[in-house]
Amino acid sequence: MTAVALGVPRLRSVLPSGEGRPDVPELVDRYGRVARDLRISLTEKCSLRCTYCMPAEGLPAIPRDQVLSTREVARLVGIAGTLLGVQEVRFTGGEPLVRADIVEIVRLSALAAPGIRLSLTSNGIGLDRKAAPLAAAGLDRVNVSLDTLDREHFRSLTRRDRLPAVLAGIAAAHAAGLAPLKINAVLMRETLEDAPDLLAWAIRTGARLRFIEQMPLDADEAWQRASMVDAAELLSVLGRRFLLEPIGREDPSAPAEEWLVDGGPATVGIIASVTRSFCGDCDRTRITAEGGVRSCLFGDDETDLRGLLRDGSSDEEIADRWRLAMWGKKAGHGIDDESFVRPVRSMGAIGG
Ligand code: 5AD
Ligand code: SF4
Repeated sequence: MTAVALGVPRLRSVLPSGEGRPDVPELVDRYGRVARDLRISLTEKCSLRCTYCMPAEGLPAIPRDQVLSTREVARLVGIAGTLLGVQEVRFTGGEPLVRADIVEIVRLSALAAPGIRLSLTSNGIGLDRKAAPLAAAGLDRVNVSLDTLDREHFRSLTRRDRLPAVLAGIAAAHAAGLAPLKINAVLMRETLEDAPDLLAWAIRTGARLRFIEQMPLDADEAWQRASMVDAAELLSVLGRRFLLEPIGREDPSAPAEEWLVDGGPATVGIIASVTRSFCGDCDRTRITAEGGVRSCLFGDDETDLRGLLRDGSSDEEIADRWRLAMWGKKAGHGIDDESFVRPVRSMGAIGG
């Protein structure tokens, strides 16, 4: 059903043309953007089943030999950091912590690209044990996904009763010094009324909370623009309990717009991916768990790098293929346009 509908994205058999591309080392595109922020998905597997992301049965398993190995991931990080001008790498999934080699991936990546900032996006499960070793291996930060502190709401949204494990993971991340710790909460109607409690808790624990408008990346294809909770609606719910003053973005390519809470210093962020898209300032490049470059979350073609990693190609050849893939990046996702067509892959399959 949904798993079938997920399908496999079109792999580029013909590479995008590099016509007009300036001869610069960075990952530039036709619209003048430079990608300095790399997201690498490490697996399609996850310990939760959030309805806005995964089908209840999970995603179809990717055959093991098609997933990038520890060394292949670290080699790509090295190429990105040393040849392509990437400054920040975020490991995502699925859930990156389900990979048994996650600490080793971080350690080898830090060695391959000295000075690069390394972070990961996790659902928090398993962080209680992994936070300290990850920090020791060179991880700088984590983003933990948490949509509600109401145990029953958490269970129905993630289809798993694991809220205590997530909270233990967050506590361990704080203790390990993985700062600033950011919390991502996807805006869903079922948990909207829980938002003020989540914000009060985040302020109390010193985490930086950001709410994210739900994008049409759910494997179940239930997303509808008309029923989506948008930033304006969230602001009115939070406004019943807090005084909020807009202060803008940290920098132009930061997706979150920030609000000062009750006069500060605490803030809350809103990532209005749908109603106020920030594609024009996007500085992301993405690698799927199978080693394909995706220039955008919302584009169904991928440029394979795994073949090059395994056929003896040099780092410079891999870098060149990556540059070409990014030169073909489209202008934006257009979710709010009438003509919008969803991508074939869901979030868990691409990596947030
Ligand atoms: N819309 C917005 N954010 C999503 N995430 C997963 N699916 C969606 C979606 N459909 C978020 C997760 C996590 C990050 C990787 O992406 O909550 O924080
Ligand atoms: Fe797993 Fe994250 Fe998707 Fe939830 S949103 S199912 S935690 S990958």
